[in-house]
Amino acid sequence: MIIEAGQSKFQIDLNRHLRENNENPALTHLICEISEASKYIINSIRTGDLGVAGTSNLYGEEQLALDVLSDRILKKRLIHSGVVGKIASEEASDVLTIVDNAEHLYSVAYDPLDGSSLVDVNLAVGTIVSIFKGDNIFQTGRKQVAAMYILYGPRTTLIYSTGNGVHEFSLNQLMEYTLVQENIQMNTKANIYSPGGLRNKYTKGVAEYVRHLEEKGVKLRYSGGFVPDFNQVLLKGKGIFFYPHLKGAPNGKLRLLFELNPMAFLIEQAGGAASNGKMPILDIVPKKIDQREPIFIGCKEDVEKAEEYVATED
Ligand code: AHG
Ligand code: MN
Ligand code: MN
Repeated sequence: MIIEAGQSKFQIDLNRHLRENNENPALTHLICEISEASKYIINSIRTGDLGVAGTSNLYGEEQLALDVLSDRILKKRLIHSGVVGKIASEEASDVLTIVDNAEHLYSVAYDPLDGSSLVDVNLAVGTIVSIFKGDNIFQTGRKQVAAMYILYGPRTTLIYSTGNGVHEFSLNQLMEYTLVQENIQMNTKANIYSPGGLRNKYTKGVAEYVRHLEEKGVKLRYSGGFVPDFNQVLLKGKGIFFYPHLKGAPNGKLRLLFELNPMAFLIEQAGGAASNGKMPILDIVPKKIDQREPIFIGCKEDVEKAEEYVATED
């Protein structure tokens, strides 16, 4: 990386970081377009209507006006980017083809606003994006060429990886994303855990896993927003997030295409692990757009331990 005299590397903006890492120019353009869209999403969160949209999504969940508005903002940017052939949104029931036979373009799966129901109590929420080359959105997560998320918290931060490490940016007062840190790396052991789902629906193995963590003195940190909860695990480097299979919900809640694949790509790039309790998330072949999977994601040793406890249930 070339640092101009007198300029600290931390004034490097997102576009420059991607260019100086010799990323594909079309992918650079796409990632920057998504970062631009996030600035409009920020505005809608800060000032938008917190009410319901009067519609529901594919999962039968009532959509909030912010879900629909964020989806529209991001979709418009992707359609006009000129480098996207297909998009799949958590808020839409089908894949949208923008360009036919788009092997030379990118496919994007995204959750435009994760945790939207937390906005009315002023908790942090985020946008999650998964990027593939070509026009097949049902590839395994390991085939992603990039993953990113934007976290709308006290600061607005952006995390991305194109397979060359995980890097964090923060939005400055000029609305530019500037570099905070590069090549984020996880420790092997957790000291915080972030347990999703109803505790009285935990299976025997998962309940024993939680007891194991607590006996080790691991502290509970859970906001109910996947993006801030995951971000804490990644940036502290010593954490495990899980939204496990539950009694009555064997696939848990979180969606493979829109939430789990991108976060699994990032955590593996940071030296951590992501499993559905039996196999790596990134090796799961998606069968349908709304596929849900249990998730254990964070420090490698703690994910492996979770798999051991889950295996006792077989
Ligand atoms: P979304 O708002 O996109 O539907 O996702 C919400 C998810 C995720 O943010 C979080 O981990 C999980 O819902 C929390 O679920 P519970 O409310 O069941 O705990
Ligand atoms: Mn979500
Ligand atoms: Mn969402």
